[in-house]
Amino acid sequence: MTVAVLYTSRYGFTESVAQTVAVRVESAGHTATAIEAHRWTPVPEADVVVIGAPIYGGAISGGLVGCLELNLGTLLDQKLFFFLSCLNEGDKAERQLADSVPPQLMPHSSGSFYVGGRVQFDVLRWMDRQVMRKVAGIDADVDTSDPTQIDALVQAILAS
Ligand SMILES: Cc1cc2nc3c(=O)[nH]c(=O)nc-3n(C[C@H](O)[C@H](O)[C@H](O)COP(=O)(O)O)c2cc1C
Repeated sequence: MTVAVLYTSRYGFTESVAQTVAVRVESAGHTATAIEAHRWTPVPEADVVVIGAPIYGGAISGGLVGCLELNLGTLLDQKLFFFLSCLNEGDKAERQLADSVPPQLMPHSSGSFYVGGRVQFDVLRWMDRQVMRKVAGIDADVDTSDPTQIDALVQAILAS
């Protein structure tokens, strides 16, 4: 089985999850690559595509949305999983994903996983620090990462 993990990441947490997923799929004997996605990134030929995205301001990045739109036809022919890295949980997290991606993709998805989020306050850009303070009321590091969700995603990929 070949697996492509397409991700975007502003501060590295989503990237680290994407790489962990790829390494674990490879160590189970498959071929897996983690690829940073931009607006014009073509989706590679793969049996399974995993889309990994952080949420900023309630949505996944425009660059990733552009990539999904550009590759819509290909993605609808592939087995698809999503993982979302964000601080919101439950319905709120699900809504942030469903409201951001092209509407045809959610019903086609084989599963969405919410892996939590990570904010390292000191490394944030000035503007992001203001948003965190003023909108979210957060002025310290936050780590809600959930390894059980990463395990569940890897198991779902391997079982597909
Ligand atoms: C400026 C800023 C805005 C954010 N906005 C949201 C948001 O709207 N909803 C949410 O659930 N998480 C939000 N987050 C949390 C990020 O999605 C989370 O920290 C994520 O793990 C970051 O991933 P990255 O390190 O790959 O960029 C925000 C974080 C920052 C710094």
